[in-house]
Amino acid sequence: MGWLHKKIIRPLLFRQDSERAHNSAVRSLAFISRDEFLLGCVKKIFGAPELPAEVFGLKFPNPVGLAAGMDKHAAAVPGWAALGFGHVELGGVTWHAQPGNPPPRMFRAIPDEAVINRMGFNNSGALAVAEKLRKWKQSGGWPAHPIGINLGKSKITPLENAAEDYANSFRVLRDLADFFVVNVSSPNTPNLRQLQDKAALDEIFAALQSQNSTGKPILVKVAPDLTFEALDEILELVGPRNIAGIVATNTTIARPQTGDPALQKIYAETGGLSGKPLRARSTEVIRHLYRQTNGKLPLIGVGGIFSADNAWEKIVAGASLVQVYTGLVYEGPVMAKKIVCGLQDKLSSAGFKTIAEAVGSKNRA
Ligand SMILES: Cc1cc2nc3c(=O)[nH]c(=O)nc-3n(C[C@H](O)[C@H](O)[C@H](O)COP(=O)(O)O)c2cc1C
Repeated sequence: MGWLHKKIIRPLLFRQDSERAHNSAVRSLAFISRDEFLLGCVKKIFGAPELPAEVFGLKFPNPVGLAAGMDKHAAAVPGWAALGFGHVELGGVTWHAQPGNPPPRMFRAIPDEAVINRMGFNNSGALAVAEKLRKWKQSGGWPAHPIGINLGKSKITPLENAAEDYANSFRVLRDLADFFVVNVSSPNTPNLRQLQDKAALDEIFAALQSQNSTGKPILVKVAPDLTFEALDEILELVGPRNIAGIVATNTTIARPQTGDPALQKIYAETGGLSGKPLRARSTEVIRHLYRQTNGKLPLIGVGGIFSADNAWEKIVAGASLVQVYTGLVYEGPVMAKKIVCGLQDKLSSAGFKTIAEAVGSKNRA
């Protein structure tokens, strides 16, 4: 199945502009998501075996999730489980609907198996996403796995009003998802990453928790470009603001060295880089966060995961769950299942019974 994707489907998809290919793939899955029979067929082919994990009080059928940005409009909610994912982070969703940056805004760096994007939180806004989620719930196709929502700041909202903007989205979405991720790390909304500053972030967390009467897990997603000192400052807020975990990491503004002129041209594009070149740095960030918290804070590892080996690297560094985006673009729909099966093999060869036993096992003093 992976062979079919790499030799036939991927070359066809890669003839299209990157965003168009992405939109047609999500549209196809949205179509399948509305038909129980088709959904069942997809599940038969791509569904993953159980590899349970319990993290921040939620039960996950397997530790491999879909990263934010792939399904920004909650278009294919039931479909991701059929593709083997154990959770989905929808969004980024902002309070105000917004078109994002002008296209082209998504570029493949094929030789490096990477993507650069400067989408800029194109989305239909929190109210429209809430309506869409209500429809999925009524349809009876709601997945058994946890659903997360990635919250971003509306571009028109000034930084000093960011807390209110995030809290507005949270208020209308909080009963429609299982966990929430505060995204202050996208490089594509002007000055957004300044909100990773301790005081600004504290204000956002306070605003969200004041609306969080049902105790939904609230996590924060960090940039791979932060220094360890800046990460440590964020960690100081975790206890006081009851933060359930950290998603590490978002895309990077750094670029790899390359002598290839075609790649140099792509790497000159403004935006965040994801995929293989991000793998090592995001694992470094996970390793640091795990050590600093003595393994007590749940981490979701994301960045450059293409295989079970890559997922295992993040798990033994300290990630309780992992997520993928760019890997799915290059490896195709069989990817989640392959990773889950590979993780089962890795667990048994390491002599572990559960994923929880493996978390951080190569990162302890
Ligand atoms: C086109 C695109 C859009 C993205 N949109 C979001 C987003 O809205 N919110 C967010 O937190 N991360 C977003 N991301 C970042 C991913 O969730 C992920 O953190 C990053 O791509 C690294 O993982 P990967 O190497 O598996 O792609 C986006 C990534 C891509 C490629």
